[in-house]
Amino acid sequence: MSAAVTSGGGLPLEFARLLIDWQRLHGRSGLPWQNTRDPYRVWLSEVMLQQTQVSTVLSYFHRFLERFPTVEVLAEASADEVMALWAGLGYYSRARNLHRCAQAVVAEHGGVFPSNASALQTLPGIGASTAAAIAAFCHGERVSIVDGNVRRVLSRLLAFDGDLAQTAAQRKLWDLAQALLPAEPLPDDMTAYTQGLMDLGATLCLRSRPQCERCPVQPICRAHASSTVSNYPVKTRAVKRRHESWWLLLLRGAAAAGGERIWLVRRPSTGIWASLYCPPVFDSEAALIDALPTPWREGLRELEPVAHSLTHRELRLHPRLLVLDTAGPGPVGLDGAWVDAEALHSHGLPAPVRVLLGSWLKSLPP
Ligand code: ADE
Repeated sequence: MSAAVTSGGGLPLEFARLLIDWQRLHGRSGLPWQNTRDPYRVWLSEVMLQQTQVSTVLSYFHRFLERFPTVEVLAEASADEVMALWAGLGYYSRARNLHRCAQAVVAEHGGVFPSNASALQTLPGIGASTAAAIAAFCHGERVSIVDGNVRRVLSRLLAFDGDLAQTAAQRKLWDLAQALLPAEPLPDDMTAYTQGLMDLGATLCLRSRPQCERCPVQPICRAHASSTVSNYPVKTRAVKRRHESWWLLLLRGAAAAGGERIWLVRRPSTGIWASLYCPPVFDSEAALIDALPTPWREGLRELEPVAHSLTHRELRLHPRLLVLDTAGPGPVGLDGAWVDAEALHSHGLPAPVRVLLGSWLKSLPP
């Protein structure tokens, strides 16, 4: 069935009204990036929320605002400091783009975020949905967000059977989303509508076990009417993850002034864990052993492997621990440098590395 949305009343009008009324009564209302029209806060929260749950974002959002209260302060910070504060949130290209975006807002827009979605989209790291969220929340622009959750909500509402792995179908659904917007929004209607779409997707219109009996738009949901909710969204292409094994050398030494230190190397600026600090990575155990001076090899200890999923990769990490009890130099020929345990908190570390470094990191933020 192809989904038609009539203009001038009918489904759009009803959908927007039902959604807005429900959001105001039952939607989320106390999140720290709500009840503000400050584009800096809204932008920061939306970028953090792009691939991360609200519960995880909360503490990062507060820490970022404390350290970078304005877009100017963020723009002036070093990339290293931004990466270090972001560490643990994942998808690190978001942090690099966040910093670049702040610099572009200051350099090209006098420190003021553009006020409409199409201009916002020209900035680093701001895609169509994030731009729409900022424009709708801060300026009441009639523009629809369409992220993964919203695609699920709308494809069920409309029984939209286009294959959302295809960009043509995504574009069509976005056109339909635009046609569903409130026709003449009152002040704050676009805020409640946009938040309502997010809330519905996050709390009721779930991927598995959707709570249709509690859904405000169940009476007009076409998939519900035909008992086909679980058929939507239609998406043919499954994400194929490549499997890869990495051997990590956890080299621990004594610091000259007492205490401990670890050998870390900065990852390249592109690819997995780009620009973060990490123990040296090898693609085989033999390569790891080869990199060590012969007398050190005996002390090498095998730790439990750790599985770590990335968007397109299934990583299996094989940590090897080597504890040196002298404060001597590092291994000759191995990239990297000693980092004192107390200084680890100021280095951006990938989340599984923070876990592997375990007890040293207990005092650091999650
Ligand atoms: N996910 C993306 N944006 C969000 C927001 N503003 N509130 C809650 N969850 C979100």
